[in-house]
Amino acid sequence: MNKLRIGVVGAGQMGIGIAQVSAQAKLSVLLFDSNHEQLKSKLSYLHSILSKQVEKGKLKAEDKDAIVNLIRPVFRLEDLRETDFVVEAVKECVDVKASLISSLSNILQSGAILATNTSSISITKLASKYKDPTRVIGMHFMNPVPLMKLVEVINGLQTSAETLKATIELSHHLGKTVTVSKDIPGFIANRLLMPYINEAIYALQEGIASREDIDTTMKLGTNVPMGPLTLADFVGLDTCLAIMKVLHNELGDSKYRPAPLLATYVDAGFLGKKSGRGFYEYK
Ligand code: 3HC
Repeated sequence: MNKLRIGVVGAGQMGIGIAQVSAQAKLSVLLFDSNHEQLKSKLSYLHSILSKQVEKGKLKAEDKDAIVNLIRPVFRLEDLRETDFVVEAVKECVDVKASLISSLSNILQSGAILATNTSSISITKLASKYKDPTRVIGMHFMNPVPLMKLVEVINGLQTSAETLKATIELSHHLGKTVTVSKDIPGFIANRLLMPYINEAIYALQEGIASREDIDTTMKLGTNVPMGPLTLADFVGLDTCLAIMKVLHNELGDSKYRPAPLLATYVDAGFLGKKSGRGFYEYK
């Protein structure tokens, strides 16, 4: 396992987290993002997170250096040719992911596995863009990746048993617990989580309670670490809306209709914590 060469595509919040946990598990990582500034800024963010851990005595300085040294930024997609297991974590948009997977189809070696970190898009559909759909699988990490223990693994229609086994082994090596889901919109996590968040937004829209009271009720009443509106801001309101649209369109049931207030906030650019404003305001 230690010789496995990991490729990560997309240096967003998820991609940098996947690179971090891979390097912490002593795997070498090539990290690609078409936006070179984003790539550099996320790497310096990782340095600062790890430096804080060193200052607090939670990590040895030499371990920090080892983690950082295992992650190599690359600036051309072709540089991922020498990898064995690639996780793509680009924007949650079917066209963007499909186009990336078509490109990787011409680059990766035949034995490589391609995992897509999608939160709701069909693995079967994405795998159809790849030269060997038996080597494509869903690997849904949770945010923040270094702190969350779960990886949801999703088989596409043609995913082979060998690909599933290797993906579960890698997830365990990264210290994660695995659940396996069918390739159905939202899989397990978002099939349950997003309608819950969406219903909280309806509750706010209908004036049932204030944002604080909705969150406090669920936080203290059901022992979750964040109330649903805080969690929506944390995930990103655009991501929540995109997932609700997938559930609504693909499952065709009106119970998945995105709350109009969610769509309005996204239209206004209130995307949650990352944009400084969502259901709450952030500095
Ligand atoms: N690497 C290592 N350590 C890190 C880190 C990183 N990248 N980022 C933060 N930490 C450290 C912090 O420095 C902190 O260290 P300290 O204890 O020494 O101060 C520690 O981790 C905990 O950080 P916080 O103080 O922020 O901890 P909290 O106790 O507030 O927990 C949380 C934060 C884990 C995010 C918690 O609030 C939580 O569990 N929230 C819910 C998260 C959740 O539900 N995620 C799933 C979202 S849905 C999803 O991802 C699916 C998608 O498809 C939509």
